[in-house]
Amino acid sequence: MKRIIQIFFFIPFISLSQFIFADDAPLNGAELTKKYCAECHGETGNSTIDRGGVIPNIAGFSAILIFDTLSQFKDGDRKALAVKNKAGQLSNMSEISKKLSEQEAEAISLFLSEQKFTPTKQVDRSNDEKLAAQGKLLHQDLCDDCHGEFGTSPVDDAPILAGQGRAYLIRQFDQISKQERYIPKRMKRKFRKLNNKDKLALIEFYTK
Ligand code: HEC
Ligand code: HEC
Repeated sequence: MKRIIQIFFFIPFISLSQFIFADDAPLNGAELTKKYCAECHGETGNSTIDRGGVIPNIAGFSAILIFDTLSQFKDGDRKALAVKNKAGQLSNMSEISKKLSEQEAEAISLFLSEQKFTPTKQVDRSNDEKLAAQGKLLHQDLCDDCHGEFGTSPVDDAPILAGQGRAYLIRQFDQISKQERYIPKRMKRKFRKLNNKDKLALIEFYTK
């Protein structure tokens, strides 16, 4: 009788522990990033491919922002620009984020947040120093609160602006101006103060 009890206790213990282990096995963020993101954003979130400056670098962003952004694209709250993938077909962030489970999105977000941001190689900047200097003043006055250290800091779950491609920033400024994407209320109030020349000056500063 004692032996039977032992067997009965032993079997469920093994299968239960296997189940817990399988569930807790950490997903490999680096591998998942390589599989799903690298062809556009590079293996560490720093794009090395020249697509005309439309692909943002996302290394070193906060994990919360990356995860939240993937949800925004998935739910269609943020419009996604289509670009050609490795196979030469058009693809976009909305399509890509739908392929990920919540756990995969989490693992990728954590991995990317631990990588070092490298500014993108600018493909089409206009080198207008005077305009960039005006942008710097505007940034200090209105934006540095959250996009700190002149747009290079990811704290407060805000994206890194300095060192993104010009075409990417123009597209985001345009969407924000048309209220086509989510931004915090406090940013909205500051952004509203900008005229078109101010926006160009800020973009010039971030792509300097
Ligand atoms: C086929 C190319 C492609 C692939 C693959 C891809 N992305 Fe993107 N990603 C883009 C483009 C293009 C944008 C800019 C979208 C826009 O301007 O509408 C973008 C934007 C983003 C942003 C917004 C950054 C910001 O500053 O707000 C994040 C975050 C992001 N991608 C994460 C990922 C992750 C994580 C993966 C892998 C799961 C991935 N992307 C795979 C092309 C791609
Ligand atoms: C209250 C804090 C705050 C202030 C102030 C602020 N921002 Fe933001 N900004 C954010 C956050 C948070 C996001 C990300 C929103 C999201 O997609 O979830 C963002 C997103 C952006 C984006 C989109 C970039 C990308 O890669 O997705 C741009 C461009 C931007 N801000 C520019 C500005 C400018 C220019 C100013 C000053 C006029 C400014 N922000 C002031 C918090 C702020």
